Amino acid sequence: MLKTLKVLTIALVSGALMFATVNDGEAKKKKKGYKATAEEKELFDRWGVKERKHKKYLKDMRKSPKFVGATKCNGSCHDAYYQAWKNSPHGKTYDLLKPGARAEAKKRVKLDPDKDYTTDPLCLRCHTTGYQQRGGFKPAGSKSKKGKDISTTIDPEEPNKEQVGCEMCHSVAGGSQFRVVMKASKGDFKKADIEQYGQRWDYANVCTRCHTHPNTPFQPDVHDKYKFNFEERKKKVHEIDKYWTEDNLDQKLEKKDDRAKEVSQSEKTPLVIEDFAVKKGKLRFKKGTMPYNKKKKSFNYKKG
Ligand code: HEC
Ligand code: HEC
Ligand code: HEC
Repeated sequence: MLKTLKVLTIALVSGALMFATVNDGEAKKKKKGYKATAEEKELFDRWGVKERKHKKYLKDMRKSPKFVGATKCNGSCHDAYYQAWKNSPHGKTYDLLKPGARAEAKKRVKLDPDKDYTTDPLCLRCHTTGYQQRGGFKPAGSKSKKGKDISTTIDPEEPNKEQVGCEMCHSVAGGSQFRVVMKASKGDFKKADIEQYGQRWDYANVCTRCHTHPNTPFQPDVHDKYKFNFEERKKKVHEIDKYWTEDNLDQKLEKKDDRAKEVSQSEKTPLVIEDFAVKKGKLRFKKGTMPYNKKKKSFNYKKG
């Protein structure tokens, strides 16, 4: 009896061990192999993505989101939008932080018109892209742990992360993932397809990340021009009409009107707006107020 028990235990234990190693191996292979899930496969089929390309796309689609900058949205994809943005106030927001810029407006809210605010954490939150978030803007003097200079390079000809870029209005935590989806689908995606990769459609809500936000010095009660009427302002965000040229005309969005008829999750229930404060000279986001939960890989919507 004892002997049989012993044999049985050995068999069971070794079986469990074997099972564990096989499972382990499989998990590793899965990680390395980037096999599409049924849901991902359905998307790739719909977009006509060839199997040999799955791995390449999956690799980027499954990474944590990060900010990539406006020039990455331009390239061969959104030239007219980029040109219009570059020439619009949002494409020049960093410059307002320089000494001498808009002296009257600064004085009115008791800011020092001669001060350089281009490294001020509070101002950078609303005047640049993704500051203090993965891939976001890093001001002059930013150093890595090893002391290497990691500040964002600024090219005056090609505004990028140093301004209020595309991702501040279109993304939850940076556009790295949905940029891949846009490419893979060649623009033929549904709002929901791309929303699960961090694109947001709650436009009226997202403006309040900055406009009329409790932390902006430029409140509506300071001056009428800071009052925010979404419908009026929206018209001025993308004045793309004059930026279509022979070279970029093929970038007109064929599926835009179809998409406009869909109602996405973030339009039904807008995402939460980050709460932030500057503490000990550092911009901090309050826990539980982020629209994206990195650990759970889930989105936080407003309640009620
Ligand atoms: C919470 C977001 C937020 C913060 C923080 C913020 N700004 Fe702004 N800022 C805005 C918005 C939004 C506008 C545009 C307001 C409008 O035109 O309705 C603006 C406009 C400005 C303007 C132009 C005002 C005018 O009338 O011409 C200047 C200059 C400026 N900001 C400088 C700063 C400086 C310097 C800081 C840091 C001390 C700062 N901002 C912090 C959101 C912010
Ligand atoms: C200040 C916020 C803001 C910024 C910055 C911004 N956008 Fe937009 N974008 C919007 C809004 C709002 C709409 C919707 C406009 C409408 O419906 O009339 C939109 C619409 C679009 C659309 C059409 C999407 C569709 O399918 O309906 C594209 C493409 C686009 N933006 C690209 C860009 C690119 C590229 C940049 C950067 C170069 C950028 N946007 C920067 C707010 C912004
Ligand atoms: C990340 C911060 C931020 C977000 C988000 C943002 N804005 Fe702005 N916006 C600014 C700043 C800063 C200025 C000031 C530029 C200036 O005065 O030159 C500005 C200026 C503008 C202007 C130009 C003002 C004028 O009188 O011409 C318009 C229009 C505008 N915003 C519309 C929008 C809309 C619509 C949204 C949401 C879809 C939005 N903004 C989201 C920061 C932001």
